[in-house]
Amino acid sequence: MTIRLTINQVNPEMERINEAAAIIRSGGIVVFPTETVYGIGADAFNADACGKIFKVKERPADNPLMVHISKLGQLDDVASDVTDEFMSAAKILWPGPVTFILKRNKKVPDVVTAKLDTVAVRMPAHPIALRLIDASGTAIAAPSANISKKPSATRAEHVMSDFDGKVDAIIDGGHSAFGLESTIIDMSKERPVLLRPGAFTIEELEKYLGTITIPEYIDRESESAVAPGMKYRHYAPDKKLVVVSDNSMLLKLGSVKDKIIVLCSDEIADKIDGKVRTLRLGSEGNLYEIAKNLFDAFRKIDRMDVELAVVQSFPRRGIGLAIMNRILKASDSSEVGSIEELRKYL
Ligand code: TXA
Ligand code: MG
Repeated sequence: MTIRLTINQVNPEMERINEAAAIIRSGGIVVFPTETVYGIGADAFNADACGKIFKVKERPADNPLMVHISKLGQLDDVASDVTDEFMSAAKILWPGPVTFILKRNKKVPDVVTAKLDTVAVRMPAHPIALRLIDASGTAIAAPSANISKKPSATRAEHVMSDFDGKVDAIIDGGHSAFGLESTIIDMSKERPVLLRPGAFTIEELEKYLGTITIPEYIDRESESAVAPGMKYRHYAPDKKLVVVSDNSMLLKLGSVKDKIIVLCSDEIADKIDGKVRTLRLGSEGNLYEIAKNLFDAFRKIDRMDVELAVVQSFPRRGIGLAIMNRILKASDSSEVGSIEELRKYL
């Protein structure tokens, strides 16, 4: 049975936090909100409990979990060889939507790190998550709370549909603020390397970390990818999804309108509504709003009577880099450049 705990994210009710923390301590699994997406968590030092996460999430064993902490004092429990330079940056950047790959402390079980000699660590900027970690008295290993390959959960109903009856508790903390996962930076190499663009922009992170290397395959699944998880398809709705390379194409979609839905900004929807079905992601003037609604839109199209979702493209800077990364990973093609090419998908 799954207990559902509704907790206020501004003023979390401590008796409910404590109930969830007791479940973590006794080796159970709790789904909880963070500022990025929901996480499915267990005591990071309990190998059996962490093993259960792989099972319910249907996650391949070679894809390691990320470990969540609530204070910098916990860092030495999970990582080793942490430099003073890193600590000064972490003091500024955490809590926040950025995850660092660090050398692992041997105390972290092999199941969590998939036997790598590194560990992914994050301190989430979310009152419920931070209090849950504190009250549990341990670090919490937690990947995103979605069945493997599906879009991450940004609302409690997404989590309910994937995990009700399969986990011990689900904390309903409302709609995730960012709606995209954290940015992952590998700090175990000579220089910082981007493993996954995310909610924290590269431009901002570089102010504290110096130049960050961006691998050219960052938007593709790749066998040779540095992050083990990056070789798997991600964030994908069941419906087919394509992204256009040039948004002016969206104005000419009338000719193929029957079985498609266009995922686009309010500005584009205002121009094409009535000619073709649209699902609005928010205003182009606020890409954070687009990011927040993206995974919810991916889940919505699966319940719609359409064959193909056509997504507009966004500028690849700021949060736009992460938005485009998730759209490209969810689509099984590269960008589509013409209506003729689009017809092949119908
Ligand atoms: O925003 C987030 O990061 C969310 C919330 C819940 O914190 N978590 C999340 O976890 O997105 P997950 O497991 O869905 O994605 C973590 C990624 C995976 O692709 C995994 O392969 C990679 O991090 N990862 C974990 N440990 C790693 C390591 N030691 N080296 C390289 N990549 C690692
Ligand atoms: Mg995930």
